[in-house]
Amino acid sequence: MTDKINELLRRVEEFRPNAAAEIEEFRIRILGKKGELNALLEEFRTVAPELKRELGQRLNLLKTRAAERIAALREELQEAAEEHAAALGDTTRPGTAERLGSRHPISLVRNRIVEVFSRLGYTVADGPEIEDDWHVFSALNFPPEHPARDMQDTFFIEKDPDILLRTHTSSIQVRTMERQKPPIRVICPGRVFRNEAISYRAHCIFHQIEGLYIDEGVSFADMKQSLLYFAKEIFGEQTAIRMRPSYFPFTEPSAEVDVSCNLCGGKGCPVCKGTGWLEIMGCGMVDPNVLQSCGIDPAKYSGFAFGMGIERIAMLKYGVKDLRLYFENDVRFLHQFDEAL
Ligand code: DAH
Repeated sequence: MTDKINELLRRVEEFRPNAAAEIEEFRIRILGKKGELNALLEEFRTVAPELKRELGQRLNLLKTRAAERIAALREELQEAAEEHAAALGDTTRPGTAERLGSRHPISLVRNRIVEVFSRLGYTVADGPEIEDDWHVFSALNFPPEHPARDMQDTFFIEKDPDILLRTHTSSIQVRTMERQKPPIRVICPGRVFRNEAISYRAHCIFHQIEGLYIDEGVSFADMKQSLLYFAKEIFGEQTAIRMRPSYFPFTEPSAEVDVSCNLCGGKGCPVCKGTGWLEIMGCGMVDPNVLQSCGIDPAKYSGFAFGMGIERIAMLKYGVKDLRLYFENDVRFLHQFDEAL
């Protein structure tokens, strides 16, 4: 009988349940009315009196150990379950909303500009950021010694033949004209690179968006009307534009476009430096030399082009004073544009 008691004690000590139900099953099997302990107690009645004292003590020990072990196991399982629940959190509580990302202000403005021009029938054209001299300068009528070709402005990757990072998106115009017959109406957004010191108003990487319209009989007046429509769509219905004569190698005549200052309504304020006007882009009638270089007959076709810095438009639209903010990606800055445009 000692062996039976020891054997049962061993099983109690070694019992490793996985679930509460197993503990209960075990308890019934050992301590239940028809359980193994009661069977032993039954047997105990029949043992010789001189053995009763010792066996009785052993049986008592078995009984308390079994009860203790079952209680301890129950507690252990309970604790594990609570820990698990705590790790999951309270699954009955309402969820917390994930904070969604927002579009970068430069993307917002680019998309908006693309959308405005797509209403005028323009489609989006793209081109490589790594370019050759032809597409960035030569085909655009830059004279060989033009300062824009200088090492100071351009990041050259290779010399002779020149491979470089495009300094403007005008290269996409060239690629489009080489590929497509007029009528051409494209809008070209892209990243451009210039070897410039970084400051609140300049960066060595920025974004431009450029437009090109070529067909028979396209006039300066068409350009002016298109750009006025654009300015009103971006800066508001009350916006006026003015054009000042300017120079670009690839357009003749060329102009600089100003919009009436949307902060002071044209009265003059620190943002427009008291002038009431803000410069937003360059434009002009495509130079016949450029059309010729790209295989388009300048006797038959004419066109206009315009180009602007997306950062600049975004700064004017949102009143951002430091262009570097667009590149730092500080979420405190970016989240301000969640609902913009
Ligand atoms: N490429 C000029 C720049 O980088 C912008 C520009 C001006 C583009 C006039 C044009 C244009 O297409 O016609 O500053």
